[in-house]
Amino acid sequence: MKRILLLTSLSFIICHLSFSASVKSPNGNIELKFSVDNAGRPVYEMTYKGREVIKPSHLGLELAKDKHASKGMDETNLIDGFTIAKEETSTFDETWRPVWGETATIRNHYNELAVTLSQPTTKREILIRFRIYDDGIGFRYEFPQQQELVYFLIQEERTEFAMAGDHTAWWLPGDYDTQEQVTQETKLSEIRGRMKEAVNWGNSSVAVFSETGVQTSLQMKSQDGLYINIHEAACQDYATMHLELVDAETKAFTTKLGGGSNAYTPNPKPSAYPLPKPFTFVSHLTPDATGLKGAMQTPCETPWRTVMVSDDARDMLANNLILNLNEPCKIEDTSWIHPTKYCGVWWEMIVGKSTWNYTDDFPSIKLDQIDWSSVKPNGRHAANNEKVKRYIDFAAKNGLDEVLVEGWNVGWEDWANMWKRDVFDFVTPYPDFDIKMLNEYAHSKGVKILMHHETSSSSQNYERHIKEAYELMNKYGYDAVKTGYVGDIIPRGDHHYSQSMNNHYLYVIKEAAKHHIMVNSHEATRPTGLCRTWPNLVGGESARGTEYEAFGGSNPDHTCILPFTRLQGGPMDYTPGIFVTKLSEWSDNTSWARITIAGSLALYLTMYSPLQMAADLPENYEKFDDAFQFIRDVACDWDDSKYLEAEPGDYITVARKAKGTDNWFIGGKCDENGHKSVVKLDFLDKGRKYNCTIYADAKDAHYDTNPQAYTITKRVVKAGDVLKLTEAPGGGFAVSLIAQ
Ligand code: NOJ
Ligand code: CA
Repeated sequence: MKRILLLTSLSFIICHLSFSASVKSPNGNIELKFSVDNAGRPVYEMTYKGREVIKPSHLGLELAKDKHASKGMDETNLIDGFTIAKEETSTFDETWRPVWGETATIRNHYNELAVTLSQPTTKREILIRFRIYDDGIGFRYEFPQQQELVYFLIQEERTEFAMAGDHTAWWLPGDYDTQEQVTQETKLSEIRGRMKEAVNWGNSSVAVFSETGVQTSLQMKSQDGLYINIHEAACQDYATMHLELVDAETKAFTTKLGGGSNAYTPNPKPSAYPLPKPFTFVSHLTPDATGLKGAMQTPCETPWRTVMVSDDARDMLANNLILNLNEPCKIEDTSWIHPTKYCGVWWEMIVGKSTWNYTDDFPSIKLDQIDWSSVKPNGRHAANNEKVKRYIDFAAKNGLDEVLVEGWNVGWEDWANMWKRDVFDFVTPYPDFDIKMLNEYAHSKGVKILMHHETSSSSQNYERHIKEAYELMNKYGYDAVKTGYVGDIIPRGDHHYSQSMNNHYLYVIKEAAKHHIMVNSHEATRPTGLCRTWPNLVGGESARGTEYEAFGGSNPDHTCILPFTRLQGGPMDYTPGIFVTKLSEWSDNTSWARITIAGSLALYLTMYSPLQMAADLPENYEKFDDAFQFIRDVACDWDDSKYLEAEPGDYITVARKAKGTDNWFIGGKCDENGHKSVVKLDFLDKGRKYNCTIYADAKDAHYDTNPQAYTITKRVVKAGDVLKLTEAPGGGFAVSLIAQ
């Protein structure tokens, strides 16, 4: 670790105007300026190669009054009346090794500006810390312990991001409970007009807060070709941030308190905080059940607010700023954390052919009042001994590490949206799931069973049972759990992305780490790079995953957007690999996946994750065993990654070198328009030959009319050769390069 404190007089890093500072990134491309305006409000601005990224924008927080108001806990705002007490700059350059990742090493190189601000009227001090990287900035508020600021409640954080133009944005409606919507692509000025259509969809838990509210990670592109992304890093003990756009029509900020579905109501008591100029995003935190946004105790800090920028879209995908802003790994022995390919007793329930529940005979169940041995089975329960063994055999034969089994434990009869507290106990199997026998069977074949804990968002129920649940996993040799948070949060009123729920998800990760368990969390809060600190957080959903292909489908460009947005904070358990895309071929479900088989293979590269599912049924893979060879071969942990082509919503091509080998894999995925890709193999070792297998869309392939048309060609290649590949509409390609 190298940290060098520079004196503020070093003018190449920092130059003093009256009450202002300017710091450049290590290569000078990004410049951050900070000042305090006439009202004593902190202001920052940011440029990239001299072009405006963030116009002068205010920083600050509104505090709330609490009935227990005491010293250090009142509603004095941390908005204005500040003077600069101290400015310090430093530079940092370190290279670290992630436990798993896209590259073997990551360089963390930035210049830092730490400004201490004092508010003389309250005798309070806060600190704003900026880190300026070559590909973006991060900044956060820090609250040192002090007599006049001990406990405080946050009414709202008012961090502004003033945009320099009417950029194109890829956005999701701001929502306190879900991020599974279809991404909208509009100009900033069109967000308000599109909102009603964007929120008109179905999900078990929806709480939209504003006509111009959007989620992070928000990807934008300026008219003159700058790619800008706003997100956050290291969100812990704090609420998840959304962004509310102030546009020409904004009269006041809107706030929706409490749960509910698609509705937003104007805040009855408008904020005292002045509206900034149009085209400014203002932070909007997720409230808890009482409507408050945060309960703080000094010393403490907010998450980092991040702005990534480049004039090359590929840099947005190769960017490590969010991981770098998180703390180093806190798990000492990480030997039990491993990349995992898995299949699962899952897709057939999602599609509706079989069930999670064991019986259909009760209108509701009470866990402590049922004798399961005398209950009549419905005949469609998938997690039964015979079927699970079939999946274990399939995994063993095909080199998959684990088998997810959902619906193994009692409680699925009335599991979701009943405001029921004791939904599951996470330890009692249904009578047709022999937990001991099945784990022994799996282990005898070198396979593990992947645990499933659906909490139905009854988070306190999960916390009550978590120790026993993880002890049971240890006893039978499970080393990974998929958790789930379907439905509104129980107890009522809280939200999926509030401070208290964010604390819950982190508690689960820490508890799991103690038991050497990897976590894959569905419907939890969107990730902010915490997987650097807790690498047992190997995956998560927190976006629209493959399950939606069974609920009406997603657009062909969906997976060309997610890496720019959702994946910025960490890997996604997208559950790719659907080969039989028309579900009516094997079920009553008329929904279909808008992708070709070659496109499905590409996702194992373009949607980076150390946890990758082969989501389709074994019998569907057996029909296309030659294409399935790619899923058998592909790695999910990497020594190197090179983004070769990228444009949000259009196409992504990436080459990755499998960890600890000389083998490379390449994936290209495109939208509904198809794409012609030219891949120069200049990253291969010179003088070496590679056995190259190309899985491509056939000439007439199409995500709707001909999704299963692919070609497999083999040749020997060397560094400098060029592959010309045509991706069909909704298609892609996958290549394996095995060093001779
Ligand atoms: C939603 C998850 O995303 C899905 O994968 C899971 O099967 C269901 N919840 C049931 O837990
Ligand atoms: Ca989900």
